[in-house]
Amino acid sequence: MQHTVLFVDDEINILKAIQRLLRNEPLQVLCASRAQEALGLLAQHACQVVVTDQRMPEMSGVDLLSSVRERHPDIVRMMLTGYTEMTIAVDAINRGEIFRLITKPWNDEELKATIRQACDHHDLKQEIRRLNQVTREQNFKLQDMNRNLEGKVRERTKQLAEKHQELRTAYVETIKALAEAVDAKDAYTRGHSERVGVYASKLAREMGFPKEFIERVYIAGVLHDVGKIGVRDAVITKPDRLTPEEYAEIMEHPEVGAKILEPVSFLADIVPCVRHHHEWFDGSNRGYPHRLRGEQIPLPSRIILVADTVEAMTSDRPYRKAMSLDQVLRELTKYSGSQFDPVCVDAMLRLLDVEAEGFIRKDQKFDIYAFIEG
Ligand SMILES: [Fe+2]
Ligand SMILES: [Fe+2]
Repeated sequence: MQHTVLFVDDEINILKAIQRLLRNEPLQVLCASRAQEALGLLAQHACQVVVTDQRMPEMSGVDLLSSVRERHPDIVRMMLTGYTEMTIAVDAINRGEIFRLITKPWNDEELKATIRQACDHHDLKQEIRRLNQVTREQNFKLQDMNRNLEGKVRERTKQLAEKHQELRTAYVETIKALAEAVDAKDAYTRGHSERVGVYASKLAREMGFPKEFIERVYIAGVLHDVGKIGVRDAVITKPDRLTPEEYAEIMEHPEVGAKILEPVSFLADIVPCVRHHHEWFDGSNRGYPHRLRGEQIPLPSRIILVADTVEAMTSDRPYRKAMSLDQVLRELTKYSGSQFDPVCVDAMLRLLDVEAEGFIRKDQKFDIYAFIEG
């Protein structure tokens, strides 16, 4: 790019000398002998450097450079001045009005070099400004992309979560059908699984757990005995005492249930709850399959065990009638700490205290999703 430099001096001889000096430089040289004329030229020509004398009629060099700074901030400003105006010129430098000061009489080579430096300085400032602009634009673009990306990720995550929930619900419905089929093997246990799910979820709510946990407890409760599908009907419906072999077969059902659910990745969190719903809180060998103790037993399993027991005790069996709530309360209290987690028993006692017979009403229609929203 060819540079244009404007010289302003009221002495024509000085302007002529400068023109002569710069004849062979790759520059366009403009000259003005008055400040107003200079401003007029700047308005018409793209100019990169202005060099002005200080003492001129009508408007001083410093005032001219102030105007230039205001109207054309990119133009590099310099003063060419005699020693007599030095204090003014130094003041101008200090106020940031000018890039360099050249003294009269000047050294030709120095003046040429200074003009070149001024042009380079101008180009450098332009380049820096351009780069800043590019950086700013890229930053904006990047921010924009980030915003869009965040939005998209949020949207996709939400969709995935919804799909996941849909699939989970669909699987639960399917496996619920299986659980109902299991209950139906024995006329006495019809509806058992669903009721255990309901009781367990009410317990979880009473214990103050959040929605997700309550839902997990419900699902695990409904599915807890799904492994009984593997137990022979004759064993399940046998009204008499079970032989050790038959009892061993029954004891397989938590593990079989876990195995049924294991391949369903959507129900991964349900599997351990089902596997351990017959562990005893004290870790004794009356619990199975792993004889876990206390906190080792998944909390939903501990909750389900209480719900399961209450449901079983308050239902008729071929070998006994349903127990009264008082008997249930006594049993729960008696085995609190050994078979049952005392915290779960306490929650059960609180619920029975408030709801009494209502808690075990057999015709309770239950919609977990409505129940959780409520
Ligand atoms: Fe069971
Ligand atoms: Fe059960």
